[in-house]
Amino acid sequence: MSNDETSGTFWGRTHTCGELREEDGDKEVVLNGWVNTNRNLGGLIFIDVRDRHGITQVLFDPDTVDEATFERAGSLRSEFVVAVKGVVTVRDEGQRNSRVPTGAVEVNAKGLQLLTRSEPLPIVLDGKAEASEELRLKYRYLDLRRQALQSNLMTRHRVCLATRSYFDQNGFIEVETPVLTKSTPEGARDYLVPSRVQPGTFFALPQSPQLFKQILMISGYDRYLQIVKCFRDEDLRADRQPEFTQIDIEISFCTKDVLFPILEGWVALMWREFRGIELPLPLPRMSYMHAMENFGVDRPDLRFGLQMATVDDLVADAGDGPIRSALDLDDGAVKAMFVPGDPGQLSRKLLDGYTTLVRDFGLGGLLWGKVSAEGCSGAAGKFLTEEQRAAVIARLAERNGFDAGSTGVLLLAAGRKGTVNDAFYRLRLKLGADLDLIDPEAFAFTWVTDFPAFEWSETDERWTSMHHPFTSPIPEHYELLETDPGAVMSDAYDLVCNGLELGGGSIRIHDPAIQSLVFRALGIEEEEARQKFGFLLDALSYGTPPHGGIAFGLDRLVMLLAGTEAIRDVIAFPKTQRASCLMTAAPGPVDQGQMNELHLQSTAQAAQDEQESTEGAREAGEVSP
Ligand code: AMO
Repeated sequence: MSNDETSGTFWGRTHTCGELREEDGDKEVVLNGWVNTNRNLGGLIFIDVRDRHGITQVLFDPDTVDEATFERAGSLRSEFVVAVKGVVTVRDEGQRNSRVPTGAVEVNAKGLQLLTRSEPLPIVLDGKAEASEELRLKYRYLDLRRQALQSNLMTRHRVCLATRSYFDQNGFIEVETPVLTKSTPEGARDYLVPSRVQPGTFFALPQSPQLFKQILMISGYDRYLQIVKCFRDEDLRADRQPEFTQIDIEISFCTKDVLFPILEGWVALMWREFRGIELPLPLPRMSYMHAMENFGVDRPDLRFGLQMATVDDLVADAGDGPIRSALDLDDGAVKAMFVPGDPGQLSRKLLDGYTTLVRDFGLGGLLWGKVSAEGCSGAAGKFLTEEQRAAVIARLAERNGFDAGSTGVLLLAAGRKGTVNDAFYRLRLKLGADLDLIDPEAFAFTWVTDFPAFEWSETDERWTSMHHPFTSPIPEHYELLETDPGAVMSDAYDLVCNGLELGGGSIRIHDPAIQSLVFRALGIEEEEARQKFGFLLDALSYGTPPHGGIAFGLDRLVMLLAGTEAIRDVIAFPKTQRASCLMTAAPGPVDQGQMNELHLQSTAQAAQDEQESTEGAREAGEVSP
């Protein structure tokens, strides 16, 4: 090995690969990094050396390096790790590379150490993700070398720093709460961890630190913050992961009016620091009812209009047909949207696609009609009288600020209220995208407030909490808890941005008597409540300050700030839709010894064993197929 190769020690870097500028000209420097590209041009070798900070061009000139070094430079492949010693030269004006910050200089190499080689990569790092998602997740350590992911993780790091600093300045302290704990009621399934020392018992990984942060208020830690991992075994989507991070906050002696300005100050800071946008404060607020009525969902995307309206009252005397059938249901509803303008802007093909879309979300079909001077075509024309149609369009015109006499396309949904809302919520988003109504640079925030406390679960045939059972009903509705739970409103709120729920929280119950009433309304017996949350109920009786809080999804926040579409782009080691990690192959089987130690028996394993033994017997001719 020549003295330029590594023999235990290597030349440590004097600068990162993103650091050198014109004013560094003539400096002797050492760079460490990965070979990004290697080009041999007319007897000169150009190596781009890359690290997390950037990329610098290094020139190997046979007139300035010895032959062995020059040869070694020629043999470098992508992703080899090197140390390069050299002198910074300022490039001539015409030779500069304006695409990289180091483009005004290059390093004229004097020596080269090859620190490690690399196998050819299974995925391509430059260019837009040519490899499949699966391959990228399997080789996540390579994918993480990509500039886009490095920049997202950098944003994440800086968001956490700025968040801690902001809340620290506002008197919050960070307290860690346990990961091995009891079930917390956030509505998803728990991840369970068996106890070795107490056979047959399990810890639950926290779905949130909800109970602990309330306990901390009772203990007097009046402003709490934690950036904390939470675990939920639920169906995954582009904005959901089974383990994710919350920015978890709780305040004592708190009302919305105390809490919101603190939170809005932080939101404004995030958008100022990371997007250069000054958000007008206070952020808008909207009631849950308003959101559901106008957008069909409690997390409306307010970057565009196209608001819908319930029109049951306007079509009440509809004759036989889908509208009549919907109105005759106990929980039926008819909603309408109108796309003003040229009725031809929505082609037959698009409208057929919309019909499929709403069917996929449970509606029988979509009643649409093209409204022009001649009248209204399609099913909307067939099932509405002219007066009904005019009244429906007038309502939508008033809500959306267009002229009631406009031509356009009328869309009607009739069915169960929940299904109508869900299908129209999706259709509105699709229309927004198809009609190019969404400004991709815009951020439209709203608080959604005044949620119903409970929702009826058809499957469980009982009331369930809309947020969680520690959310306070508004005091004026305490007395309805025993008589009419469906009418109780809670002091809960969500923060929504561009149709994404960024955070959710509430003012909590601080009176044990009210907590008992809420459990009763939820059909949770005293004994069950004690078994699940006895410690909180006890704690509530020892002097509980009024308190409230919120949790924001850090991953979703960074996703918005970094401008990515998928939550896994802002998480170093994300899981797949099937909740597995392709890099480590988790979850995986464990050996029988470990199972025995944990007092566990797997029914999945037993079923597999049985299947294998049946197949074995079949092969041996003992069982008929
Ligand atoms: P909630 O359940 O609304 O409230 O969660 C708070 C926020 O956490 C984020 N979030 C998720 N992000 C990624 N993947 C998931 N699976 C996931 N689930 C939730 C969302 C959500 O708004 N204890 C209450 C908070 C409180 O009342 O203070 C709670 O956890 O951005």
